[in-house]
Amino acid sequence: MKRLIVVLAAGQGTRMKSPLAKVLHPLLGRPVLTHVLESLRGLEASRILVVVGHQREAVEPLLVPFGARAVVQSPQLGTGHALMCCRDVLEAEGPAEVLLVAGDVPLLPVDDLARFWDAFGTSGAPAALVGVRLPDPSGYGRLVRDEGGTLCRIVEEKDAGPAERSVREVNSGVYFLKVPDVLDHLQGLGRANAQNEYYLTDLVALLYKENLAFLTFDAADPEPWLGINTQAELARATRALRHRIIESWMALGTTVMDPDTAWIESGVSLGLGVVLHPFVKLCGNTALGRGVEVRSFSSLTDCVVGDETLIKENCVLEKTVTGPGCIIGPFSRTREGTDLGPSVHLGNFVETKKAVLGRGVKANHLSYLGDAAVGPGSNIGAGTITCNYDGVNKHRTVLGERVFVGSDTQLVAPVTVGDGAYIGAGTTITKDVPAESLAVSRAPQKNIRGWASRKKAPPKKD
Ligand code: UD1
Ligand code: CA
Repeated sequence: MKRLIVVLAAGQGTRMKSPLAKVLHPLLGRPVLTHVLESLRGLEASRILVVVGHQREAVEPLLVPFGARAVVQSPQLGTGHALMCCRDVLEAEGPAEVLLVAGDVPLLPVDDLARFWDAFGTSGAPAALVGVRLPDPSGYGRLVRDEGGTLCRIVEEKDAGPAERSVREVNSGVYFLKVPDVLDHLQGLGRANAQNEYYLTDLVALLYKENLAFLTFDAADPEPWLGINTQAELARATRALRHRIIESWMALGTTVMDPDTAWIESGVSLGLGVVLHPFVKLCGNTALGRGVEVRSFSSLTDCVVGDETLIKENCVLEKTVTGPGCIIGPFSRTREGTDLGPSVHLGNFVETKKAVLGRGVKANHLSYLGDAAVGPGSNIGAGTITCNYDGVNKHRTVLGERVFVGSDTQLVAPVTVGDGAYIGAGTTITKDVPAESLAVSRAPQKNIRGWASRKKAPPKKD
């Protein structure tokens, strides 16, 4: 039978106490909802519907890469109401099995889901859900069973009496539903409950009254089925996913010196033989080549790093591309548009932005290179600054090959320095420098003999 997926993602997530809708919270560099959609990719379904509402202008773009379709729920009157909003779209699909999951369950175990779905398909039952047993069930809907052990209703925490609260078997919020069969029963849902909402969970009692089976599948390990409702749960999911990612990279040969402090986001890729020291942070779509070593307290976001490059301690790299064999840091700061050729050396307190540095360029100390192009083999002395901003516009500095820039040089852009030129230390370059020339702009040095001892001599008394 046709298989469809519905993801509920319209709620605000009030227990997060955050201005951001719950499904938009980042988890290892991706929104929670993106993790859910990513794991659902592993299942065969002909269509994915996502119920959106709160901050839908930010939620809807997340659906695009997955070809999922948005169904708007406004206002949000509960999980049962969310499914009601899908009714027309689902009916148009004809008979189907629907997997319904909340958009706040980022670690869904897809293999188990696929197994449960097959079991549901062959069962002939109109509905099923995944149940989990928790030592502390607070916050979840409790599964209430009759004397025969059949699931007869679900009681939400806020509506539960003391006996029901003690039930440890809870609703994971993952359901399998036959449509259109169960859709007619949605009319039976009401809002007479503590939250004044249409609870999807009331479907259980409605089907039970009509002697229709609502199966339960038991999840062996509860953790991956649990949604995120609070900041503490978001942090717990982050920790679990972080370890999962680190372990999978270690299995592929990455050396992670301290898995407890390394941070590798979902979108990161690592070449063979990468070595990560404690407290390294790799974010966004960062890709490290073979044999790259990143030392402690360095953070890379959306960077592409060439083979065998060494990034020493305390570097912050963003939107940077490096060639192979570069040595960066400690304390280097590269910003968007930095493009380093092979074997470039950047040292302490060097900042780059929109800077293209050719093969073997060295800028080892205390410099700012912004809106600049530096040809291969050039050497940038300590304290060199490209003065790229005139208060209104940004201008470019272009240095040729093998240029030697003496320490404490200011290059007032726009300016071009030809191949093989020398710039004397302490120079302020305001005009282009021809190839193979020397440019110096310092005032000539004067030595005034005896000046210091005269100054220090005691004042004459009258
Ligand atoms: C729900 C279940 C509870 C279960 C728990 C598992 C109900 C009434 N309760 O409770 O039995 O143990 O999940 O995590 O279903 N949503 C909408 N529209 C709405 C309301 C919610 O799309 O009007 C979405 C939310 O964005 C969220 C999901 O549905 O992704 C679940 O909503 P949430 O408020 O987290 O439900 P729980 O109270 O956790
Ligand atoms: Ca929830």
